[in-house]
Amino acid sequence: MSAPAIVPVETVYRPESVGKKVRVRGWLLRSRSSGGILFAFLRDRTGQVQVTARRDAIGTEAFDRAEHVQVEGALVVEGTVAEDRRAPGGREVRAERIEVIDPGLPFPIFEEQTEEFLLDQRHLAIRSPDHVATFRVKAELLKALRQFFDAEDVLEMTPPILTGNPAEGGAEAFAIDYFGRPGYLSQTAQLYLEALIAPHERVYALTPSFRAEKMRTPRHLTEYQHLEVELAWCDLNGLTEFIERMIESVCHAIAERRPSELKQLGRPPEELQAIRAPFPRMRYAEALEELRRGGYPLEWGADLGTAEERALTLERKVPLFVTHYPRELKAFYMLRSADDPKTVEAADLLAPEGFGEIVGASCRETNIENLLERLRTLGADPSTYEWYLDLRRHGNVPHAGFGLGVERLLRWMLRRPHIRDTTPFPRTPSRHTP
Ligand code: 4AD
Ligand code: MG
Repeated sequence: MSAPAIVPVETVYRPESVGKKVRVRGWLLRSRSSGGILFAFLRDRTGQVQVTARRDAIGTEAFDRAEHVQVEGALVVEGTVAEDRRAPGGREVRAERIEVIDPGLPFPIFEEQTEEFLLDQRHLAIRSPDHVATFRVKAELLKALRQFFDAEDVLEMTPPILTGNPAEGGAEAFAIDYFGRPGYLSQTAQLYLEALIAPHERVYALTPSFRAEKMRTPRHLTEYQHLEVELAWCDLNGLTEFIERMIESVCHAIAERRPSELKQLGRPPEELQAIRAPFPRMRYAEALEELRRGGYPLEWGADLGTAEERALTLERKVPLFVTHYPRELKAFYMLRSADDPKTVEAADLLAPEGFGEIVGASCRETNIENLLERLRTLGADPSTYEWYLDLRRHGNVPHAGFGLGVERLLRWMLRRPHIRDTTPFPRTPSRHTP
């Protein structure tokens, strides 16, 4: 008789599976044996199951091999699904055959190891329940974002990562040797997305961005997933409304689709369900006043750092927009406010509970002279931006856009202590392996 087909572990728990022959395969979570019976817990992508194997049922040789499989070794088990009150989930697979695919060496990851050790062993540590839950949520988040853009008629684009001009300020770009000419790893796709709105009007891109900042903080990576949107015919109100709809939509999607992962990570799904637009808005000038009252004596023109963003949001439960920053604090491409030329039409979205900036948004300057003036003030060479400036000569229309740090958003959603918890292989100033 031929062997039964391989099934995902979750099928063992279906009512009709009791008494059926199955084959399951996966990785060993743990095992123990006593008196000629082996209890093994097997994990696959869909769940885990208890396997019991009797020496007399599978044969001495196979039993000995199975008994020596290490944690995270790999097996295929053929057996019959049985009800068992003592087994987690009330089911077990009574083995008739066990095939060891890889017995494995002793697994080096235990509880209570140092963060540095676990980062060195990241290629193995990512199998832990917290990491598994995190990356399931991250995949769901990316899916929910794409579904949102689809519903909003925003088209996905594929801008380059290798570029000839550093877009967000030269100092923080990773410079590379591009066949003898200077090149940079992309810090933002924005300039390319601005070019793409003329033919498509509403575009987005999800690409890695690189920042060569030696920032050792819980919210900086040197490589992160950057989600950027650019919308033609859009002003600051339209833009902030789009952003809050997007955040609400993905928070609800995660609460509905990944409740058990959220619980595993200590974030009650109801808290994400409670995120509802509209979010409060506060001008930079008002933020300064609130900060002064809170004991942060900032003068006009001072940037809001980690401590200030934290103070503004620590007690909040929904995100906060801070708008109309001083012009000199922000990038050269931001549109000068008509009602207050000291400021730009920009909005940063700060996550609640002290997590800080997750989105940077602005209307884009359409006036070439203003762009040139800002580039000169910043000491940048306008000739490297020639193609970008040229966009202002051919169907120059009002437009706006934003960039969202996917790991920053996820860190807040999952309330993780450090941004490196939200990416499988974090890149920080001190680490680019494994
Ligand atoms: O505020 P930033 O620098 O804005 C831009 O790059 C714009 N050109 C985006 C645009 O309008 N298309 O970066 C946008 C977002 C930040 O709000 C933050 O969430 C994230 O990118 N970010 C980082 N995330 C992780 N590590 C870093 N070092 C980050 N730097 C920025
Ligand atoms: Mg920013």
